[in-house]
Amino acid sequence: MKRPIVSTVGICVLALTCSASVTYKAKLNWHECTAQESAYPKTVAEIQNIIQTGKPPFKAIGALHSTSDVICTSGTVINMASFDSFSIDTATHTVTVGSGAHLQNVQSALQSAGYALIHTTQFGGISIAGGMGTGAHGSTLRHNSNLGEMTIQLKAVLANGTVATFNQDSDLRHWRTHLGFLGVVFEVTLNIVPLFKVHASISHYSESILDDLGTLATDQDTFMAWWYPNIEKVVTYTGKFVDVATSGSGVWNLVPDVSPIVQDLLSVPLDLQADWCVLEYATYSDMVGNVLVRDVTSLIRPPFLTTGNGLYSSSAVGYPASMIMSTCSPESDCTWSSFQVASFAVAVPIERFADAIAIIQDILSKTPFCLPLTGIFFRFSAATDTSMAVEYKRTTVHIELDTLIVDGVEPSYGRTFLRRLVTEVEGRMHWGKNSRDDFYAIYPLQNITAGTKEFILYASTIDPNGVFRNDFSTLLGV
Ligand SMILES: Cc1cc2nc3c(=O)[nH]c(=O)nc-3n(C[C@H](O)[C@H](O)[C@H](O)COP(=O)(O)OP(=O)(O)OC[C@H]3O[C@@H](n4cnc5c(N)ncnc54)[C@H](O)[C@@H]3O)c2cc1C
Ligand SMILES: *[C@@H]1O[C@H](CO)[C@@H](O)[C@H](O)[C@H]1NC(C)=O
Ligand SMILES: *[C@@H]1O[C@H](CO)[C@@H](O)[C@H](O)[C@H]1NC(C)=O
Repeated sequence: MKRPIVSTVGICVLALTCSASVTYKAKLNWHECTAQESAYPKTVAEIQNIIQTGKPPFKAIGALHSTSDVICTSGTVINMASFDSFSIDTATHTVTVGSGAHLQNVQSALQSAGYALIHTTQFGGISIAGGMGTGAHGSTLRHNSNLGEMTIQLKAVLANGTVATFNQDSDLRHWRTHLGFLGVVFEVTLNIVPLFKVHASISHYSESILDDLGTLATDQDTFMAWWYPNIEKVVTYTGKFVDVATSGSGVWNLVPDVSPIVQDLLSVPLDLQADWCVLEYATYSDMVGNVLVRDVTSLIRPPFLTTGNGLYSSSAVGYPASMIMSTCSPESDCTWSSFQVASFAVAVPIERFADAIAIIQDILSKTPFCLPLTGIFFRFSAATDTSMAVEYKRTTVHIELDTLIVDGVEPSYGRTFLRRLVTEVEGRMHWGKNSRDDFYAIYPLQNITAGTKEFILYASTIDPNGVFRNDFSTLLGV
């Protein structure tokens, strides 16, 4: 399997817009979009010019790490990568960043200046506005889990080409998960806190712990869990925020670099489910530092958690930029440059967590499968008033199942997982994960929240002619 050209959007660097039809791909699952034009603005005036004279509809994009149709447009795709400014205001404890700035770079630059975002997503390769766009979340019931929730002001070019600044909750509660449907965001101001460190501990349990995970997550600064159903084990990550003076330079490797050589070696047995069971065991072993296979897995990927000396450790202290988040870089060193990855992700009200687990166990008993990547991943977020957030008005457990796509076909148990969690335990699909086809099949079964209705109304006043809409907004009724 050869590595794809992940995006052709960058070819128009010299011109403001390029008129040939242009295709670009979601990096994770290689979902392809075809636009008529692409643009690569460097100034706000250039964005305004594109909106006033270019070919609608318009779609701003970040790092293309979403897998759904949310990134596609039939008109003009606007690559926001040039907007990567960074400026800290120590008086107000805020940072103002360009919308295309990558989260990992922002958190690292904040660290150098003695500050941090209180929480981040677990993957750092996404852009600020793109992460807000789909409501990308981390895992904490104690702090703000989403970038949008930390946002106190943003600036955007609207459908009529004017520049607007939003800093009132009545607007921001729609922009915090904007799906790219409201305008082109070029600048975002986020709350920051004095720099701290994270003390992380990895534990492993038999799967009887599953029903207690919601309780274990409560009152933690950050808490995550991975369920490996075939080996009947659960791994947890408990993170406590500690004083910045605490010694330690730990590194967490959830999404590490994988060398192209190893990727090529791994691609040989991809279609054998039996090998996926071996990989499931290898990933579990890497997470818990299983001595027997550690040396083998460390050839494939660095240890899951290390104090910074390259050796596995079940606990470590380090900065949030390297302990809550991880990033593969360059993109050719990310697993998905050689493998198409399917990501099925649903947000379930925490009261229904036990029912959700019973559903997954039932699916597994009918269709046994192994998970070669990170098992079934659980994360937690508090309720919010943000209109399109999957956590709208309810405490949430995010349940995610990532697996490999063989010969372009997603495994069918993924859609069963989505359908049953959506219809039986009021699950809400992650806007930036799940595939285009899964959205068309399952989203119509999902309850429309009051928040979604409010967003639809807001979008119709701010963009009355649908300049920023696409097929995905049509599916959502926006
Ligand atoms: C390996 C990996 C790990 C991930 N981990 C997490 C995780 O921990 N938690 C989580 O919740 N998600 C996670 N995701 C999903 C990812 O965070 C989201 O899909 C996120 O939206 C991607 O951001 P992006 O910069 O790539 O934006 P894109 O995918 O390019 O765009 C996303 C949306 O934002 C809009 N947009 C982007 N920039 C602008 C702008 N300047 N103005 C207006 N609209 C804009 C787009 O139109 C689109 O609607 C992960 C994805 C991958 C590949
Ligand atoms: C939709 O909401 C109703 C009322 O709250 C509830 O009874 C039903 O189970 C929900 N259905 C889904 C698919 O979430
Ligand atoms: C542009 O649209 C915004 C949002 O609807 C509106 O508030 C503003 O008055 C409009 N400006 C012009 C010049 O039409």
